[in-house]
Amino acid sequence: MNKRKIVRNLIVIITFIVSISILSGCSVKKTEVEKTNNKKEADTLEIGLSLDSYIIERWERDRDVFVSTAKELGAEINVQSANGDIDVQISQIEYFIEKNVDVIVVVAIDADKLSSVIKQAKDAGIKVIAYDRLIRNADVDMYISFDNEKVGTMMGEEIASHYSNKKVIMICGAPADNNVSLVNGGFETIMANRGIEIIDKTFCEGWKAELAAEYVNKHIDLIANADAIMCGNDDIATNVIRTLAVYRKAGAIDIVGQDADLAACQHIVEGTQNMTVYKPVEKLAKEAAKYAVDFANKKEVDVNTTINDGTYDVPYVALEPISVYKGNIDEIIIDSGFHSRDDVYLNISE
Ligand code: BGC
Repeated sequence: MNKRKIVRNLIVIITFIVSISILSGCSVKKTEVEKTNNKKEADTLEIGLSLDSYIIERWERDRDVFVSTAKELGAEINVQSANGDIDVQISQIEYFIEKNVDVIVVVAIDADKLSSVIKQAKDAGIKVIAYDRLIRNADVDMYISFDNEKVGTMMGEEIASHYSNKKVIMICGAPADNNVSLVNGGFETIMANRGIEIIDKTFCEGWKAELAAEYVNKHIDLIANADAIMCGNDDIATNVIRTLAVYRKAGAIDIVGQDADLAACQHIVEGTQNMTVYKPVEKLAKEAAKYAVDFANKKEVDVNTTINDGTYDVPYVALEPISVYKGNIDEIIIDSGFHSRDDVYLNISE
């Protein structure tokens, strides 16, 4: 081979290697973050919303109301879902920083793993709102949620209202979600005050409700010995009830949850779940969107209550949850339009 041929072949090989690595780099990034265009236009208000995932029924409602409210108020929203993967969520937030959005709103997958990326956002002059779940040691500009301790108190009060309930099992949500410890705190205080024994307590990593079904299958004898099961949310409750049904035990034990998922509301009218905690997420999403747009417009936001995130006291907006049971489900769930009567009473014959 002459010299020119060797050089030409070398150039072809190098070009090939470089383009393969660029392409593979791109494809990794693309699966992590759905990128649109790069830097935002200077005069547009842009909000980045990073969600955990859409597995649980409520989050699509949260997203839709948040997006429509913020749009009406003149902002553009870039929505990303991290599919339950904290590293993906971190790269989504980094992408929002790179894009120089005005505000980042996060439904944190892990309360303890976002403080450094949130610091980067704040250093870049971007406001950060922790939506529904607190981000610990991050000094966010606002945490907006329902009063999660009260959610647990309401669950506890429902169980304690049944005199025969003396032994309880807790099947909780994801330990990495700060709401879980708040809900558990409220619940356990009621159990302690009323002398009700917690005979077992387990967690569903990543809010995976199939882990609750697995637990029921493994501990069916212990469950036979319990009077009630506190479920971290309605998805967990639904999986527990379906598994209990296999053993012909659905309805034989008190069950409580939260979210007012459709299946839970159906179970309440059918008598296999005692109560759920309804959280009007439309209200949460609307309020959060308004605060986000105010932040984007550099308006002063007036919030007097704070919550400690482990290091800092951060502004805290707490909305009221509502306890739902057979006696008030029509008024709270159906009259408000959260679910339709036909859907809630689907399996009940006239
Ligand atoms: C929320 C619940 C939800 C759960 C799983 C919690 O942080 O407060 O409403 O069911 O996450 O997504």
